[in-house]
Amino acid sequence: MNGTLYGLGVGPGDPELLTLKAVRLINECPVIAYPAPDTGDSLARAIAAPHIPEGRHEIVIRTPMVAGNFPANDVYDHYAKEISSCLKQGKDVAVLCEGDPFLFGSFMYIFERLADEFPTQVIPGVSSIGACAAAAGAPLVSRNQVLSILPAPLPEANLKAHIIDADAIAIMKVGQHLGKVKNIIDELGLTAGAQYVEHASMGNQKICALSELTGAKAPYFSMILIRKPELEAAL
Ligand SMILES: C[S@@+](CC[C@H](N)C(=O)[O-])C[C@H]1O[C@@H](n2cnc3c(N)ncnc32)[C@H](O)[C@@H]1O
Repeated sequence: MNGTLYGLGVGPGDPELLTLKAVRLINECPVIAYPAPDTGDSLARAIAAPHIPEGRHEIVIRTPMVAGNFPANDVYDHYAKEISSCLKQGKDVAVLCEGDPFLFGSFMYIFERLADEFPTQVIPGVSSIGACAAAAGAPLVSRNQVLSILPAPLPEANLKAHIIDADAIAIMKVGQHLGKVKNIIDELGLTAGAQYVEHASMGNQKICALSELTGAKAPYFSMILIRKPELEAAL
């Protein structure tokens, strides 16, 4: 019988923010796979490290982050094959994913290759959006407010249009796009209420008002949160 493929959300950074189910499955699965950059350590593995028993078969999904070439299809084809060979031997495989697997999670690329062929379960994780809001003490939305989740790499006009439309906004993948995003938020007169959070729930967490940030770049693991005042008509 084939093994089961698990996509495990490991949360935003704090190893105490894994679900009980994720911890149990990490303990039970003989094979643990996780994404990692071309060189260097895997964040997903580092988050789950206190829960990974010794002696597990580990598959490091090394993914080059080349702009314009993501997802790297050949890379995911290769690792999907390696994972499928474990599943065909009847071994359960846990693929770790930072935050939640289905919110911009790299597990999706394994899921779309293997979920039709093997029993698959996705275990949701605490997302960075919840973690950033909690760290900043900034409630995301209330009553009938609409939350827009926006990737900062979007073209400027596109990003601006979405921000104008939304009641509340979480801007992800800020990184090198910080300058562009700050300009848009300034033009729209929203800087005063905007919060910036980097490395939420990790040891190097930083929280500040967006207005306090200088420079045009931020770390990749950063987010900007904005919530417009509730309008009577929208309630
Ligand atoms: C590829 S997405 C992964 C999102 C993840 N699957 C989740 O559920 O949160 C990466 C983006 O998530 C955000 N992110 C993830 N973890 C974060 C953290 N601990 N603090 C701040 N932002 C984070 C950043 O905006 C980053 O650019």
